[in-house]
Amino acid sequence: MLLDLLKKRYSCRQFSQRKIDPKTIDYILECGRLSPSGGNEQPWKFGVITDPAIIQQIAQAASVNVPQKWIATAPLIIVLCTQLFDCANDELGLHRFPSVHEQLQHMDRALYSIVNMEEHQTKIPGEHMVLAALEQGVYSTWISSVDCEKVGELLGLKGYLATNVLAFGYPEKNRSVTSKKGKDSILFFNHFT
Ligand SMILES: Cc1cc2nc3c(=O)[nH]c(=O)nc-3n(C[C@H](O)[C@H](O)[C@H](O)COP(=O)(O)O)c2cc1C
Repeated sequence: MLLDLLKKRYSCRQFSQRKIDPKTIDYILECGRLSPSGGNEQPWKFGVITDPAIIQQIAQAASVNVPQKWIATAPLIIVLCTQLFDCANDELGLHRFPSVHEQLQHMDRALYSIVNMEEHQTKIPGEHMVLAALEQGVYSTWISSVDCEKVGELLGLKGYLATNVLAFGYPEKNRSVTSKKGKDSILFFNHFT
């Protein structure tokens, strides 16, 4: 059951040296591939990184604000990359926020593209992969605190923006799950309360 799986999930920040076998990696990627996307455009590439030297460099790129050396313990990193496209005629974005329509139209297009793309799209295949991995006993952590431009340079990205990094592996030690807010504080029914 999905709920049983979700009750086991936590962000793992120290992985054992055990490698993830290629079949399991392929299963994780296949579950990401089947993700929904706006207009089924699938505007992404997923960088599958198993080379320890590159993983080490990604760990450094993620240690600019706070040290995140633990990332280097991951045997697998998946870099979620969103396709950059010209948002000049982004009617959907403009319609979604009519009260700031005017400002959006005059916003620098390169800036608008990055802000518009960063949060959408790749989060969904990313979470598919996180859950597929967990089903196979592989834990993970989402990483946003990372120099996305540096990661793009490291991987030689062209026309794509590295938006998030996912670190995968087997936990060095199990820990208890992180507590969550109760339903009473996060839901409302029909009208906001
Ligand atoms: C989009 C996103 C970005 C995150 N970025 C980081 C990060 O840069 N570094 C980190 O250690 N954890 C990161 N996390 C993990 C969160 O800190 C973690 O999900 C949260 O504390 C709840 O804990 P849990 O995942 O164990 O339930 C991120 C999580 C999400 C969803």
